[in-house]
Amino acid sequence: EQIEKGGYEHFMLKEIFEQPKSIHDTLRGRLLVEEGIIKMAGIWDNLERLNQAQKITIIACGTSWHAGLIGEYLIEEFARIPVEVEYASEFRYRNPIISEKDIVIAISQSGETADTMAAIKMAKERGAFVYGICNVVDSSISRVTDAGSYTHAGPEIGVASTKAFTAQLTVLSLIALKLGKHNGHLSNQEFMRLITELDTIPQKVQEVLETTHEITKEIAKNFVDAQNFLYLGRGYNFPAALEGALKLKEISYIHAEGYPAAEMKHGPIALIDENMPIVIIAPKKGHYDKIVSNVQEIKARKGKVIAVVNKGDTQVASVADYVIEFPETSECFSPIIASVPLQLLAYYIAVYRGANVDQPRNLAKSVTVE
Ligand code: G6P
Repeated sequence: EQIEKGGYEHFMLKEIFEQPKSIHDTLRGRLLVEEGIIKMAGIWDNLERLNQAQKITIIACGTSWHAGLIGEYLIEEFARIPVEVEYASEFRYRNPIISEKDIVIAISQSGETADTMAAIKMAKERGAFVYGICNVVDSSISRVTDAGSYTHAGPEIGVASTKAFTAQLTVLSLIALKLGKHNGHLSNQEFMRLITELDTIPQKVQEVLETTHEITKEIAKNFVDAQNFLYLGRGYNFPAALEGALKLKEISYIHAEGYPAAEMKHGPIALIDENMPIVIIAPKKGHYDKIVSNVQEIKARKGKVIAVVNKGDTQVASVADYVIEFPETSECFSPIIASVPLQLLAYYIAVYRGANVDQPRNLAKSVTVE
């Protein structure tokens, strides 16, 4: 096992550090910047069906569901197809409105999750075209879906999903850009700009690992005894906040909640005092000014702010208690980069608490029963 961990203390840490490579592997052979194309057989072969969809419903559980929420933002922004995101467990029991005009995208790392599998069966019975995004090759879900794309993140052993999540975001970015390019909603110029940028993401993830590893480790020491955490983000980074909170919950057993930053005033603000740590994702591109005022509201109530901001940020950084910097990119790709220090922060808090990071209590890597 020590050899499999490749010198890392846990699989989770190894997998966090594998992300530049896993994202690169997910892009490899698909993102051809020089030719100006995205090559994805599953999308290309079904292009007409996909682009004529009345709506797309994304179904998933856990971390994959969070990736689905970002997928909704991506597909609606670039392909202008209406998207709904559902927990597979809810979808399967609520007689959803799904017909042969619909597309269902099922996202699953393991490809074995029972609820997702049951939801796919139901969608297929109603005539929907089901597209799978799985990590495990030849898994049950990858076999029952009509078409799909693998994430190519490689085996993920740590129960808390890390590299599979960022690979899911990468595939969803590719799908959204490809659909948008072919249905005419995305201009060629904008498509080129975005794919050129997507191509730099593995490098930026490498950079964020190098520049935030020590800082997150240091920051984590201050929160070993925290009872609660709040994670806030807006736009594309709202689901990133949900995922950051889930990571902390899963492995450290600290209660954590993710919220859209603007919703803070409708509830969570009541919880803020000097004992409440708040992780706030505030990239320059993406409602920055609004987040600045959220940070001020938190500081006025003495909350402890851990700000996840772009390199060189001064405004949020000057009022925050702790600052984690990440390289700038388009808002749509920022969750891929911003999620990495959140994974590291959760990891180190859990390690300092002596928790079993790779196999947290009560959790399973793949939930094959209901
Ligand atoms: C379990 C795992 C999570 C995962 C979820 C969905 O709860 O612990 O990490 O996100 O299942 O799994 P899937 O394999 O369908 O993505």
